[in-house]
Amino acid sequence: MGRKALLDVLKRKTPERRPIWFMRQAGRYLPEYRKLRGEAGSFLELCYSPGLASEVTLQPIRRYDLDAAILFADILVVPHAMGVGLRFAEGEGPILEVIADGTAVKGLKALQGAKEVGAVCETVAMTRHGLPDHVALIGFCGAPWTVASYMIEGGTSDERLKARLAAHHRPGWFSDLIERLTEASCDYLSAQIKAGAEAIQIFDSWAGDLTGDVFEDVVVAPIATMIRELRKRHPAIPIIVFARGAGSKHGAIAEATRAEAVGIEQAMELDSVLRSLPKDCAVQGNLDPVALLAGGELLARRVTDVIRRVPIERHIFNLGHGVKPATDVAHVMQAIAAVRAVDAKLL
Ligand code: CP3
Repeated sequence: MGRKALLDVLKRKTPERRPIWFMRQAGRYLPEYRKLRGEAGSFLELCYSPGLASEVTLQPIRRYDLDAAILFADILVVPHAMGVGLRFAEGEGPILEVIADGTAVKGLKALQGAKEVGAVCETVAMTRHGLPDHVALIGFCGAPWTVASYMIEGGTSDERLKARLAAHHRPGWFSDLIERLTEASCDYLSAQIKAGAEAIQIFDSWAGDLTGDVFEDVVVAPIATMIRELRKRHPAIPIIVFARGAGSKHGAIAEATRAEAVGIEQAMELDSVLRSLPKDCAVQGNLDPVALLAGGELLARRVTDVIRRVPIERHIFNLGHGVKPATDVAHVMQAIAAVRAVDAKLL
C-alpha cells in the first residue's frame, strides 16, 4: 500500500480506505510520550529538539494503523520565533509576554531566519524519512485570530474578552498584529512545506468566538489571504482549515478560502455540513473526544454514526477536537478498528 489515503481524499481521488488521524494523537495520554517529555525537561525543549520531536511525531504511527502523522510542535512557535517571551507552566498551559499595543506589535521580529523555525523544519525533514510510504506528514500553524488571542491575553483565558473586544474595536495595533501573523504564518508553513510537509492544517481553535462581519474580517479574511499566498508558492499542497466552533459558517469558510477540506467540531452533524460545502471540499472530523475517553459500546455507536454520514471519498476521520490526556490507548485502537470494520461492511 504505497498510496496515501489522506492525500487521495484531499486531491479528490477515491482512497483505498477511509483516512484516519487524530488531533493531538501524540501527547500526554501516551506513556512513551510522557517518558520522552520527562527526559527533554520542558515541553518547549521537546518541540525544539528535532530528534526528540520527530520521535514523538512517530510514536502514534508505531502504535496504530493511521494514515497521517502531524508534526510535533505548537501553534505558539510563531509568536516565540517573532521574539515573544513564552513558557509552559506545569499544569497551567502557556504563559506569553502580552502583546496588546502599538509599541509591542512594532517590536515583533521577522520570523525568517529564526532558530525556532529552523528546528521545527529539521523535525519535519527527519520525520518524513521515518514514515511508512502510506502515511502522509501534516504540517500546521495556528490561524492569525487564535494566535493573536493568546498574545493579547498573555496565555489561556476562559472568555478571551480582551482579545474579542480588540477584534470588535479594531484599533490599528490589532489590525497590524493580524497582518504580521498572517505573513509570518505563511512563511512558516512555506518553510515546513519546503522541508517535506505534504499537507497543511490551519488551527483556528477560537473561531467560534467571533460573529458577523468581525468573523468575516478577523477569522475568514486572514486565512483566505494565507491560502492564496501559499497556493502561489506551493500549488500542489492541500490545506485543511479547522475553524472550531464556526458552526453554520463552515460552508462560507470553504467557499472563501478554497481549502481542500474543513475540520468540523463535534457539535455539528457531518451530513448537513457536507451539503453546505462546495462539491470539491472534503470534511474532517468529528468524533466527540469524550466518546473516545469513554470507550466501549458508546464509542462504537458514535464512530458508526459519524462515518455513516459521509462517503469515504469526501471524509477524513478525526475527532472534533484533540485527544483528552486521560484517554486510554485501547480506546484509540478500538476507534480505528471500528472505522475499518464499518467501512468493510459498507463497501
Ligand atoms: O499531536 C498533535 O496534535 C501535534 C502537536 C500539537 C500540539 N499542540 C502539542 C501540544 C498541536 C497540533 C498543537 C496545537 C495547539 N496548541 C492548539 C490548536 C489545537 C487546539 O487544541 O485547539 C492550541 C490552542 C495550542 C496551544 C497550547 N499548547 C495550549 C493551550 C497548551 C496547554 C494545554 C494542554 O493541552 O496542555 C499547549 C501545550 C501542548 N501542545 C501539549 C502538547 C502535547 C501539552 C504539553 C505537555 O506535554 O505538557
